Amino acid sequence: MTTLQSSGEPIRSTTESGAPAPSDQHTLTLGPNGPILLHDHHFIQQMAHFNRERVPERNVHAKGGGAFGIFEVTEDVSQFTRAAVFQPGTTTEVLARFSTVAGELGSADTQRDPRGFALKFYTSEGNYDLVGNNTPIFFIRDPMKFPHFIRSQKRLPHKHVRDHDMQWDFWTANPESAHQVAWLMGDRGLPKTWRHMNGYGSHTYMWVNAGGERFWIKYHFKTDQGIEFLTESEAQAIRGEDPDYHLRDLWEAIERGDHPSWTLYVQVMPYEDAKDYRFNPFDLTKVWPHGDYPLIKVGRLTLNRNPENYFAQIEQAAFEPSNLVPGIGVSPDKMLLGRIFAYADTHRYRIGPNYAQLPVNQPKVPVNSYVFDGPMTYHHSGSRPVYYPNSYGGPVATDDPYADHVWETDGDMVRAAYTLHPEDDDFGQAGTLVRKVMDEAARERLVSNVVGHLKKGVSKEVLARAVDYWRKIDQEVGDKIAAGVGMA
Ligand code: NDP
Ligand code: HEM
Repeated sequence: MTTLQSSGEPIRSTTESGAPAPSDQHTLTLGPNGPILLHDHHFIQQMAHFNRERVPERNVHAKGGGAFGIFEVTEDVSQFTRAAVFQPGTTTEVLARFSTVAGELGSADTQRDPRGFALKFYTSEGNYDLVGNNTPIFFIRDPMKFPHFIRSQKRLPHKHVRDHDMQWDFWTANPESAHQVAWLMGDRGLPKTWRHMNGYGSHTYMWVNAGGERFWIKYHFKTDQGIEFLTESEAQAIRGEDPDYHLRDLWEAIERGDHPSWTLYVQVMPYEDAKDYRFNPFDLTKVWPHGDYPLIKVGRLTLNRNPENYFAQIEQAAFEPSNLVPGIGVSPDKMLLGRIFAYADTHRYRIGPNYAQLPVNQPKVPVNSYVFDGPMTYHHSGSRPVYYPNSYGGPVATDDPYADHVWETDGDMVRAAYTLHPEDDDFGQAGTLVRKVMDEAARERLVSNVVGHLKKGVSKEVLARAVDYWRKIDQEVGDKIAAGVGMA
């Protein structure tokens, strides 16, 4: 950044209209001690804009940071998808944003919480957003519960403090949360840095190949830096010393040329398998065991460029699972279908209806939609027709028969949980995680984390439910937690 012109003179500040600024130090007053004059437009303009210089923070995932980079396809997965972004040898510019979920804009990075792992691929077929987390699962399986879940993790309505009783009350009253809670309370609930965690698309998505053949897939971005975590006491110390620890770490790593990367794998389920798989493959509280659907390598994501301006490029970044491209579709996962509405809607409120025109959100391909005008319109279509059909050369929609990436369904309209596959349940995979994936030391840390959490203001009734919940995940771990909270 330079503050000098080539002549060596300082760059002169201006008003918003580009005229020389009269002063950036003194208001215009009647006499040196006198009242400020209303026609000091420069001062009033500065003050009025300052009063408006924030947009509302994200309702969830408010605290975060991000960077730009590239995604390179190193393998050939064209048999599964025709998406240009995943064709062999393709390189695509990417924006990534990492975040915590519940904390506000100024909150500490090293809280125990899932981390957002949001990606925007600026592809040759339009923007593709993969808005995932650092966990392959989630707390609930119906979007109707999402606002309730988030409020339980935020602040009490009267005291405006965060509250562990509210958190455990929600989790234990919604036992489908068990897998995600077991994950969260384990080592991976507190990543050392954003560079040292995996990213997952979490939901099941549809891929469609050039022949129109459909597949169900799950995305796994495995960190090339290795998984590393913080213990509760390490995280606590960092929270006090540097609340922006993860933000700073990513920035500094990229600045020194230590560009973090992730290898992308997918699990691919043949379309027909979903119908009688042993559990519902669209249930967001479950993973597909690798033994059933092994990881298939796709390519590498590398972050290599810091934003030039946080507000313009990260705070105003608008990720939305509804940004899909040909060859990639959604699935019958109700959570995903609920999210398809939520994000664009919140962007219209948080940033404004023309959020997609901001440089960071703009696709790198021409936009020829039939959407016009509105506040802060920047791009316009000149005199081209504003209605369809028209006789004056306006754009025409695709005639691609696979454009909507559909699946067949039947049945009455209902409000109901998923129909049962033989192994649908709430606790099984949480138990596998605790018993088979964690070693003894990791289980001890899990117990200690849960006990520490439960000891902070959880009522007797909720505590009893929490002990029961953990015993259903794993009897031994549940017994240890019971002993730890004095309810053995
Ligand atoms: P696998 O043994 O094939 O996979 C185990 C997975 O667990 C690995 O991907 C590993 O990721 C991950 N893992 C290792 N330590 C932890 C930890 N402390 N917390 C969370 N995850 C960890 O078994 P399955 O596929 O049968 O899955 C068994 C359990 O593993 C599941 O119930 C789920 O909780 C967990 N898991 C499964 C994943 C999946 O997609 N199948 C993905 C991640 C976790 P890594 O290779 O990066 O070390
Ligand atoms: C952010 C809604 C589930 C990942 C958000 C935002 C909303 C929202 C409103 C704020 C967006 C913004 O203001 O820019 C929902 C709803 C969900 C849901 C309604 C369930 C029905 C999930 C799940 C994941 C996820 C399951 C991960 C798999 C994220 C991420 C962000 C986010 C990463 C931050 C994006 C960014 O960095 O800007 N969500 N969410 N959400 N959500 Fe969700």
